[in-house]
Amino acid sequence: IQTEALAQISAAADERSLDDARVAVLGKKGTLTLVAAGIKDVPKEDKAAVGQLLNAARTAITAALEEKQVALREIADRAALAGIDVTLPARSQHVGSLHPLTIIRDEAIRILRRMGFALAEGPEIEDEFHCFDALNTPADHPARNEKDTFYFDSGKLLRTHTSSVQVRTMESQAPPIRIIAPGSAYRRDEIDATHLSVFNQLEGLYVGTDVSLPDLKGTLEYFLRELFGTNTEVRFRPHFFPFTEPSFEIDVKLTVKGQAPKWIEIAGCGMVDPAVFEAINKSRKDNAFDPEKVTGFAFGMGLDRLAMIRWGIKDIRLLIENDARFLKQFA
Ligand code: PHE
Repeated sequence: IQTEALAQISAAADERSLDDARVAVLGKKGTLTLVAAGIKDVPKEDKAAVGQLLNAARTAITAALEEKQVALREIADRAALAGIDVTLPARSQHVGSLHPLTIIRDEAIRILRRMGFALAEGPEIEDEFHCFDALNTPADHPARNEKDTFYFDSGKLLRTHTSSVQVRTMESQAPPIRIIAPGSAYRRDEIDATHLSVFNQLEGLYVGTDVSLPDLKGTLEYFLRELFGTNTEVRFRPHFFPFTEPSFEIDVKLTVKGQAPKWIEIAGCGMVDPAVFEAINKSRKDNAFDPEKVTGFAFGMGLDRLAMIRWGIKDIRLLIENDARFLKQFA
């Protein structure tokens, strides 16, 4: 039986005939299986010897089957590869890339952290106290209008700026404070090439003793030149915010190839108004932000605008449309 099986195995030309050979000898009705079943009729004194013979035959046949299978696979593989040039480069895979807003946000955070600012955060669903009242914004201020702000029936609202994080940070920490808070802000703006109803801001707050206006200007100019290059043109325009005094808007010159350069507003900033410190003290029930002792500066920039300047993007809507032709340029 063994000799016959080994001959059949070695003659097998493919995996199917090899399997036939296996079934013929080791299958349920295979020749060796049938002989093994007959061992019960063998006289007791011969059983051990016969058993040994059967085992030896089974081991030899199984080994031959395995060896032949490996050999057949190798032949099949070689045949499959014939005519294929395995040295050709592989077809390229589509790999995703970071969104421009993510790139600019991470870069802004990295620069500001190097300057000693720590990350802070607050909720996007805010109350009027943290978004307006504590920021010295009177009840009749236009920013609080239902026309400009998304209100919930509960009286809560979608924060219109990340400045609410200033308030939350000062409520829970004492000076010196040096934080940045990137996040979404919401306004009921008419949607056009530079406005969306949701946008991305990065808030900054520095409170301590002797924080001055030159600190504010120096910090922001350094930051913008780190981000856009040392030749970046920056201008501070006097402005008004209820929570800073004096206040400024910051413009950066945007140059798009083939177009006249344009100043684009990217941030609001100023020295923290003492009225804000007073509101914070009242909320904290202490005098940790004594307006006689501490000063501070704050800024809030539009990350979408920063991305538009960095890459010369003319329409803010490109940032939310997820058009692959746009996004793949940032790979
Ligand atoms: N919160 C202001 C805005 O959204 C920006 C700002 C932040 C201005 C901090 C001054 C200080 O326009």
